[in-house]
Amino acid sequence: MLHILGIAGSLRRNSYNRALLRAAQQLAPEGMTIEAYEELGTFPLYNGDLEADAFPAVVTEFKERIRAADGILIVTPEYNYGVPGVLKNAVDWASRPARDSAWTGKPLALMGASNGQGGTVRAQLQLRQAAVFLNMHPLNRPEVLVNQVQGKFDEALNFIDETGRRFMRQELEAFAVWIERLKA
Ligand code: FNR
Repeated sequence: MLHILGIAGSLRRNSYNRALLRAAQQLAPEGMTIEAYEELGTFPLYNGDLEADAFPAVVTEFKERIRAADGILIVTPEYNYGVPGVLKNAVDWASRPARDSAWTGKPLALMGASNGQGGTVRAQLQLRQAAVFLNMHPLNRPEVLVNQVQGKFDEALNFIDETGRRFMRQELEAFAVWIERLKA
């Protein structure tokens, strides 16, 4: 059984990205479970003094959950062509202290939904860039880039776009294969 930690980059109650993560939980292939991490909004802003003097318990717990996972799925919006601060803050925290980053060697899959044309492609590229320094192993393809979100979710925020759901299934299947290859 592959256990994936899913992290949404939006705190909004009616977030499309949190809804996309719920869809991924439902569409996960047999043999994969995706647990949604819900505590991002409780993280303090990264501060080296806090790191040195009072490392936050929530970050320690987050790092343990990352380490326990076979892979990480990040589902994020794009803010001003980049990664939302809330998510970047958590990525940075879990990479500390420098020699004890929780991200090292973790398989990574990315998805995202946005109002714009690009469907979070730029935010995803920024995360891929961070993954180089973090020494994570991002899956290249297929990509899930849900653009112009209106109409792709119903009123209950179910992801109803058939093409998007197909890509999502394919990405999750490819992620399972990717994780097994990295383990071998
Ligand atoms: C946005 N949005 C946005 N969309 C996009 O496609 N490219 C962008 O660069 C931005 N920039 C941006 C900045 C800020 C500060 C906000 C709040 C929003 C719109 C964004 O795609 C839309 O609000 C999504 O609905 C946000 O995702 P959630 O919260 O629904 O998951």
